[in-house]
Amino acid sequence: MQLLGLLGLLWMLKASPWATGTCDNGGTWEQGQCACLPGFSGDRCQLQTRCQNGGQWDGLKCQCPSTFYGSSCEFAVEQVDLDVVETEVGMEVSVDQQFSPDLNDNTSQAYRDFNKTFWNQMQKIFADMQGFTFKGVEILSLRNGSIVVDYLVLLEMPFSPQLESEYEQVKTTLKEGLQNASQDVNSCQDSQTLCFKPDSIKVNNNSKTELTPAAICRRAAPTGYEEFYFPLVEATRLRCVTKCTSGVDNAIDCHQGQCVLETSGPTCRCYSTDTHWFSGPRCEVAVHWRALVGGLTAGAALLVLLLLALGVRAVRSGWWGGQRRGRSWDQDRKWFETWDEEVVGTFSNWGFEDDGTDKDTNFYVALENVDTTMKVHIKRPEMTSSSV
Ligand SMILES: *[C@@H]1O[C@H](CO)[C@@H](O)[C@H](O)[C@H]1NC(C)=O
Ligand SMILES: *[C@@H]1O[C@H](CO)[C@@H](O)[C@H](O)[C@H]1NC(C)=O
Ligand SMILES: *[C@@H]1O[C@H](CO)[C@@H](O)[C@H](O)[C@H]1NC(C)=O
Ligand SMILES: *[C@@H]1O[C@H](CO)[C@@H](O)[C@H](O)[C@H]1NC(C)=O
Ligand SMILES: *[C@@H]1O[C@H](CO)[C@@H](O)[C@H](O)[C@H]1NC(C)=O
Repeated sequence: MQLLGLLGLLWMLKASPWATGTCDNGGTWEQGQCACLPGFSGDRCQLQTRCQNGGQWDGLKCQCPSTFYGSSCEFAVEQVDLDVVETEVGMEVSVDQQFSPDLNDNTSQAYRDFNKTFWNQMQKIFADMQGFTFKGVEILSLRNGSIVVDYLVLLEMPFSPQLESEYEQVKTTLKEGLQNASQDVNSCQDSQTLCFKPDSIKVNNNSKTELTPAAICRRAAPTGYEEFYFPLVEATRLRCVTKCTSGVDNAIDCHQGQCVLETSGPTCRCYSTDTHWFSGPRCEVAVHWRALVGGLTAGAALLVLLLLALGVRAVRSGWWGGQRRGRSWDQDRKWFETWDEEVVGTFSNWGFEDDGTDKDTNFYVALENVDTTMKVHIKRPEMTSSSV
């Protein structure tokens, strides 16, 4: 059992950068961890990732999209705040003009000219309206029958808890605005202006962009992390937060560590201080460095003692082979225990306490509170008769 414990301690030290202290790719060792050059990441800067998550290398550093940060854009942002929500309204209108076959090809000159004129005219009609900001139009299709334009009006709306009903209002405004414009006889006198047929104007009711707070947060969240962001609705803004966002109900308490959003979900990253090494799912297990080092030394010492005891035993059975047969196992055991007691006495100087029971498994169990007097239990060696 103590061997297992020793292996466990060795493994933990190996997993911790404290044990190595070296950084690859020009990283420098600072305050117990590697500070990596831009473009590298990982415990030892061993990952050459330059820019992740859609970041762009500008020759000096990664220019990250707004939803990621870090030297290689490796971290998803803690929260996304939205004052405005991007949305769109599907519309259809007929333009009083003859359809030419060129308009079937969106790379043709005729198509591009039509696109430009249509865009400019929509801008004039919609730019100054209340309740939204006009961002542009996107033509979905042009078809015969004069020219029937199937298109999207792209817009931004200020966030409000009543966004969905306000969106319905915007649809009505758009339709009315276009109708008013189409009835203005002065508007399409010249060839540069399109004439809309007033009775052809339609607003599409099946919008693709859902406007519930949850759906907005899913769209605004960093790609790949959508399921970990949830909405907090405020009067004039929507906050999309995670369980790593400080101050949020149900936020994860990482104690001495840092909450980091990984693709698998929120996770605690534990750090070490000068005096303690932290571990556990919430960094709630504190182990004193002295205990850790002591554990190693004690483990090694026990191993040496074990070998020594076996050695002594072999020597004794060789020299007093005749007597050996007469000695009972109990006598033998007593001798070993007396000797063992003295040794354990010296271990306690290293901060160990041995109550004689095997509690190795407790070491990994999550504790609710930080326990700076965390004890490491190592089972004392016990000889059994079968080992003779
Ligand atoms: C458009 O439709 C009209 C009649 O509906 C037809 O005469 C004309 O040829 C069509 N134009 C194209 C380009 O298909
Ligand atoms: C032109 O149409 C093709 C096919 O519908 C589409 O894939 C492409 O994105 C369009 N180009 C532009 C600039 O809209
Ligand atoms: C239509 O015009 C807009 C603005 O000028 C442009 O961004 C868009 O790419 C154009 N679409 C096509 C299909 O040419
Ligand atoms: C359309 O015109 C009517 C009457 O002139 C006016 O009351 C209404 O506000 C206009 N609507 C828009 C969206 O401009
Ligand atoms: C869209 O919904 C409005 C009211 O909810 C209705 O008046 C209108 O006819 C609908 N339009 C279509 C194209 O279904």
